Amino acid sequence: MLKNGKKKISTSFIYFFGALGGLLFGYDTGVISGAILFIEKQLHLTSWSSAWVVAAVLLGAVLGAAIIGPMSDTFGRRKLLLLSSIIFFIGAIGSAVASNFLILVGSRIVLGIAVGAASSLVPTYLAELAPADKRGGVSTMFQLMIMTGILLAYISNWVLSISDINLGFLAINKYDGWRWMLGLAAIPAALLFLGVLRLPESPRFLVRKGNSQEAKEVLGYFSDNEKEINLELSDIELQASAEKAGGFKELFSPVARPVLIMAIGLAIFQQIIGCNTVLYYAPSIFTDLGFGVNAALIAHIGIGIFNVIVTYIAMKIMDKVNRKTMLTLGSLGMGISLVLMSIGMHLSSGTGGKAGGYIAAVALTVYIAFFSATWGPVMWVMIGESFPLNIRGLGNSFGAVINWSANYLVSLTFLPLLKAFGTGNLFLVYALASFVGIIFIKYGTIETRGLTLEQLEASLRHRANHLTEVK
Ligand code: BGC
Repeated sequence: MLKNGKKKISTSFIYFFGALGGLLFGYDTGVISGAILFIEKQLHLTSWSSAWVVAAVLLGAVLGAAIIGPMSDTFGRRKLLLLSSIIFFIGAIGSAVASNFLILVGSRIVLGIAVGAASSLVPTYLAELAPADKRGGVSTMFQLMIMTGILLAYISNWVLSISDINLGFLAINKYDGWRWMLGLAAIPAALLFLGVLRLPESPRFLVRKGNSQEAKEVLGYFSDNEKEINLELSDIELQASAEKAGGFKELFSPVARPVLIMAIGLAIFQQIIGCNTVLYYAPSIFTDLGFGVNAALIAHIGIGIFNVIVTYIAMKIMDKVNRKTMLTLGSLGMGISLVLMSIGMHLSSGTGGKAGGYIAAVALTVYIAFFSATWGPVMWVMIGESFPLNIRGLGNSFGAVINWSANYLVSLTFLPLLKAFGTGNLFLVYALASFVGIIFIKYGTIETRGLTLEQLEASLRHRANHLTEVK
């Protein structure tokens, strides 16, 4: 109970619902790989229109991140999360009942808008709530939710595609299963709406809007130490009162420049190291090994579970290991695994046969472990926490827009590159990106672990002032 008689909201409740948008992100992007096979048949799609159905979410995500994310610097993080949950719901129902290609693509774009919005709101919201020494772990909950959403999508794809379902009160024809696969996302969307209704606004945003009293109350959910709370509050007030230009002018100012460069680089590298392509390709690596289609789908679920476990471990170590170290190790691990995958694939198409296939499968699993433990979560954690308060929503959105655009570009170029290079060599291209990423981490990123958001902001100002003085 708080001093004013209001009931205290538990931190687990806040973190869970604060991160839940990630689950919809993961589910809505993961579900289409299984659903599309049935949609193509029922809606008589050509390969062109089928590609549109798949890519619509990515396009919508670019829009959602660009439009909704920056609005959070004006209206607050919470209200826009609430809006996203409504958009998620409409998009899920719209996709499930779509009677033709155009309605389906339209609904998937709407869904994408919510996905993009969540990716530009959740990392900032979580970073602004968590105490500095727990911030990395708390923000990693976003990626944990993404991975859980992907896993749920794989499970629903598998269950709904193996046979007709008849539960007495509910009968689902196998060929209509895709409508359920897409429509089920409405449940977490409704849950998100109900949860966000009870969530507090971010204390940092409240201070920025001059509402220090309420901000203090929210900080009180995370600490019982009055002295600590007052200290944190006055630090936030100090940074909030510094003179600022706001908007894009501030985003491109010398103060924000280092984190802007960092966000752009991290967002691009996270995609060009091939994370989505490798995940997408995983089942065929298993079918090439002689597993049946069903076994390959089950292997996909296995990978999904593995992803969740590794991300959970990452969450536990996130505040103990420097972010830059995690990223460097991740790049190294992924780069080497990709080279091994490529060697395995070359061997399996030559005289190496089965052995090559097994090398590729093991390397694929190791690659996924490195991604889930490092680049997957760390990119979102860092773009959520690094920008100054005044433009934090805008900055996170900017990073998210770049990330979704890079994601779209990698998916567009995947098939042409596959044709030009062959799978084995294509993975070498992603390996090269992983290795180049190491140089970027060294020179283009700033360590953020352990510092409060205000200390980070103060160090950015200090750095910019110092540069001006030197000039
Ligand atoms: C990436 C997504 C990816 C997901 C699961 C996220 O961090 O941004 O592109 O689909 O992880 O691997």
